[in-house]
Amino acid sequence: MDLNRFEAAAWAALSEAAADPQSGFRYLTLCTVDAALQPQARTVVLRQCADDRRTLTFHTDVRSPKWQEMAANPQVTVLGYCHQRRLQLRLTGQAECYAAGTDIARAAWYGLPQHTRQTYTGGPPGEARAIADGLPEAAAAEAGECRFGVVIVRASVLDAYQLQRNDNQRALFHYSFDGGLQEREWLNP
Ligand SMILES: Cc1cc2nc3c(=O)[nH]c(=O)nc-3n(C[C@H](O)[C@H](O)[C@H](O)COP(=O)(O)O)c2cc1C
Repeated sequence: MDLNRFEAAAWAALSEAAADPQSGFRYLTLCTVDAALQPQARTVVLRQCADDRRTLTFHTDVRSPKWQEMAANPQVTVLGYCHQRRLQLRLTGQAECYAAGTDIARAAWYGLPQHTRQTYTGGPPGEARAIADGLPEAAAAEAGECRFGVVIVRASVLDAYQLQRNDNQRALFHYSFDGGLQEREWLNP
């Protein structure tokens, strides 16, 4: 395996996952740092991957702690492991947050099915659940738009680790702001 092919395969796997709910990298772990400098991690669905720009897109509720954390500190890590490929990808980068009212959030919202829009109509994520909430379904789904946000993570480093019996492979790739590959090297696994 050469470095170019290793890197291309990693981004191809992410691109595939953005289009395929069954793919191993469909559910990724998005890690932030909170105000107390505590690392925070949670599962998110990979919605888009622009492999030329090295960006990953996620959707979330702007009332959630992760949104506040990224607003205060955009440094994030995204981690995934694809069991089928035996491949771990760890990306570090910067999160860009697009709230309701931005073109990016509006376009993404209109692309969502009704049942997904519905998930933004409940109470603030992480707060104690109110016993009686619930509007009529049609009204409730549209009410979610103001809570819907898009997170675009711009990768600056990719650490790729291929499990391969007694010959594990690991490499590091550095990217410029616009996604250009700047440095690459094999690492001891
Ligand atoms: C399989 C799975 C997929 C999830 N996908 C998302 C997602 O795409 N966006 C999101 O905001 N939360 C998603 N969640 C919920 C988050 O993992 C998390 O619990 C929630 O967003 C609150 O995170 P926070 O308190 O760190 O902000 C998902 C949970 C699971 C179990």
